[in-house]
Amino acid sequence: MLNFELYNPTRIVFGRESTAKLDTLIAQDARVLVLLGGESAKKNGTLAEVRAALGAREVHEFSGIEPNPTYETLMKAVGLIREKKIDFLLAVGGGSVIDGTKFVAAAVNYEGDPWEILQTYGKKITSALPFGTVLTLPATGSEMNDGSVITRKETHTKLAFQNPLVFPQFSVLDPTKTFTLPARQIANGVVDSFVHIIEQYLTYPADGMVQDRFAEGLLQTLIEIGPKLQTAGNDYDLRANFMWVATLALNGLIGAGVPQDWSTHMIGHELTARYDIDHARTLAVVLPASLNVRRESKRAKLLQYANRVWHITSGSGDERIDAAIERTRKFFEEMGIQTHLRDYDVPASDITVIVEQLRKNGMVKLGEQHDVTPEISQKILEVSY
Ligand code: NZQ
Ligand code: ZN
Repeated sequence: MLNFELYNPTRIVFGRESTAKLDTLIAQDARVLVLLGGESAKKNGTLAEVRAALGAREVHEFSGIEPNPTYETLMKAVGLIREKKIDFLLAVGGGSVIDGTKFVAAAVNYEGDPWEILQTYGKKITSALPFGTVLTLPATGSEMNDGSVITRKETHTKLAFQNPLVFPQFSVLDPTKTFTLPARQIANGVVDSFVHIIEQYLTYPADGMVQDRFAEGLLQTLIEIGPKLQTAGNDYDLRANFMWVATLALNGLIGAGVPQDWSTHMIGHELTARYDIDHARTLAVVLPASLNVRRESKRAKLLQYANRVWHITSGSGDERIDAAIERTRKFFEEMGIQTHLRDYDVPASDITVIVEQLRKNGMVKLGEQHDVTPEISQKILEVSY
């Protein structure tokens, strides 16, 4: 097992009617800014519940954080915070609102150009406003991690940053808040969290026995509940399991002490930045192709994945690997997500442009072995077509 440090200060408040607990989670004299996406939290009553729980506190609102939150929009929130002397942020929404809130928290008192936060991957952050979240979309794990992904619209750049100062203080996870999710977002959430687990599990053996078993348990849970989430209506326990799996998929636990990949995410980010394809859909395109292209360096874990996750036990090694990759693709497609680049109206001739963008962003030695060069990324994209 690799050496590791694990730190996670986020309090999880889970269950029905947990939004009311905001009253005890936030100081009575806090000056609060509630950050929101588009209309969903207003339409489904979540915002009204949040406002009721906040009672007599001074509360301001900033709405309009878009999916794949943009630097341009978030800098407006930074201006509002300075103007109103806000001292606590509350993100109400999915990963985009939470990621945006993390950026805003770090940018408010940042010395220098805040875009540098992204260019330095969060390393230079020295302070951040405290914040909490009310999660409405299980997918990213942002509610219990210190990562964030921000897009600069102007340049089609999508970059991630990470810093322990942007862990949420708390996250309220009420599964009933997911009842209004459209099928498309449920599918996205299942596939995104599935790929988060894969990025931390399907690398090379490091004798992380319990990490492997946790990861396999989370993957199997998603395989079991994914299709039911699409057909079972508002089943509380299904939604509760979905919510908790997605959080556990990326809160640091399963990735501690084992190698991590993340190349599928980095290639995927370029597809979202350029073509506005939903984050999870980019992963569903890149992952099967990546596993195929990199099957030799991932061979031992691919065989373990085939056996323990999909129960594939017959055939030659290569046949079992082929079958595991196909089952993965089929799972994504059963969730309603297409898995070829051509399905998203991206011209094949653009692949070189996407690879050039990876190069420009320094994404030239990706993966657990740092061997995913631009040439390998190109091959993965060609195979994904
Ligand atoms: O904007 P509103 O009107 O609120 O609608 C949203 C949005 O259109 C809607 N939605 C959210 N909760 C809802 C709801 N609609 C009905 N009922 C509800 N309860 O869903 C749409 C998508 O929301 P978004 O927050 O964009 O989705 P998601 O949670 O999938 O977040 C995606 C973003 O997270 C980043 C991605 O790159 C992307 O920018 N990621 C962040 C990570 C992290 N911080 O650790 C890791 C991930 O790999 C990912 O990269
Ligand atoms: Zn993701």
